Amino acid sequence: MNNTITVLGAGYVGLTTAALLAHAGYKVYAIEPNKKRLDVIKTGKSFFFEEGLDPVIKQAIDSGNLIATDSYEESVPHSSIVFSCVGTPDNPDGSSNLTYVFSAAEQAASLMQEGAIYVQKSTVPVRTGERIIELFESLGKHFPYVSNPEFLREGTALYDTLFFDRVVVGGSDKKAVTTILDTYRDLEAARDTIAALADVQSVPRNGKYIATSLNSAELIKVSANAFLALKISFANSIAKLADKVDADVVEVMDAVGADERIGRAFLNAGRGYGGGCFPKDVSGLISSGLENGIDLEVMQAAQALNRSMPGYVVEKLKNNIGELGDKKVAVLGLAFKSGTSDVRKSPGVAIANVLSHAGVQTIAHDPQANEEAKEDLRRDVVLSNNILQAVQGVDAIIIATEWPEFTSLDLIECKKQMKGTVLLDAVNIIEKASAESAGLQYIGVGR
Ligand code: UDX
Repeated sequence: MNNTITVLGAGYVGLTTAALLAHAGYKVYAIEPNKKRLDVIKTGKSFFFEEGLDPVIKQAIDSGNLIATDSYEESVPHSSIVFSCVGTPDNPDGSSNLTYVFSAAEQAASLMQEGAIYVQKSTVPVRTGERIIELFESLGKHFPYVSNPEFLREGTALYDTLFFDRVVVGGSDKKAVTTILDTYRDLEAARDTIAALADVQSVPRNGKYIATSLNSAELIKVSANAFLALKISFANSIAKLADKVDADVVEVMDAVGADERIGRAFLNAGRGYGGGCFPKDVSGLISSGLENGIDLEVMQAAQALNRSMPGYVVEKLKNNIGELGDKKVAVLGLAFKSGTSDVRKSPGVAIANVLSHAGVQTIAHDPQANEEAKEDLRRDVVLSNNILQAVQGVDAIIIATEWPEFTSLDLIECKKQMKGTVLLDAVNIIEKASAESAGLQYIGVGR
């Protein structure tokens, strides 16, 4: 076994994994087929915004331990481990599109050295590993194959990978499972040095190393995400009820979540979840269920509830400012959450588009995601680079992402710039009292 690794796909997961392993004693090739993205990585930067990642990439590229390339031939034959981190977009029917997963496996298989381990990090439906092993066998190859699901969150990718709760590796080849778990032990040994370089705060953490069967590992990933999505949808359904009965969902969830068996995390009600994972993993799990004759009704309900949330927010606005057609509204927040420029399945973008479709003059602003949102926004949504400019002359503001810039919004100044007085806080981050003392009418979700 040499210490050379190839990572197929340099997106959020792949690039973070590659950069970190390059600091843990490995020589890592990161394969990125997109020329524009590849050129950015070669300069020692990521092509997306992720706190702390750039210095880690820069030092790894400068040291020669991280090599960005688009060539399988240059990297795969020399590697003892190949991580697959390629994208799995969703099909129109909600199932995962595995074209890249299979084409990457096939391309790598023809070049891998005997005994090299193939590690699946892309989120794939349960039983996909079995199909890839069959593919390898049909090519006359017998590589050890393991599933190593990824749990990092965008915005805290480095922290999550360095200070993990658990590393899961599943497969039938015990030696391969141990080797991959050991790779993470090497990363753990280097973590304080990397954390200092990335300016990520070190915390004591006794992460678990968990070895499972292949199918269990695949199911662990989607089940974990689906459960978190379920928690959010549960909070949102209680928020709808709280709106009717004059209760405050934040107070409710603070107390509900104080029960250690439940926990407070992922019970923040608001405009619903978005991003590249939850929506896809929930629909992927529903599809896996259906393919196996299991109706995951609870997940279908969570999905339907989540899809209703942007419309619910706009409906709340309408109930407060009347017919929308002649109104002007600012949407603050286009990223699917704070700390990222990612707008995939973003509720903020959905809200802006619903408004604009209803004839509202819609101005949108995000501290990081304006550029990325352009493609997904309706053409008549106007982007603004500045909060105070965005809110000028508007009848209402909707806050759709929990950026610190919005939590600490100068509400008095906003009120001065606005025509109307409505502040719809779709992420429940503003104190009602401070909005009211600035002369604004505060509306939250479930408050
Ligand atoms: C998620 C999982 O958390 C991570 O473990 C997995 O590897 C990838 O998917 P991510 O999509 O980056 O990570 O973001 P996350 O922080 O989980 O938030 C997902 C969405 O849920 C965001 O739109 C966020 O705003 C929303 N959310 C989160 C809520 O609406 N309420 C909450 O209480 C928490």
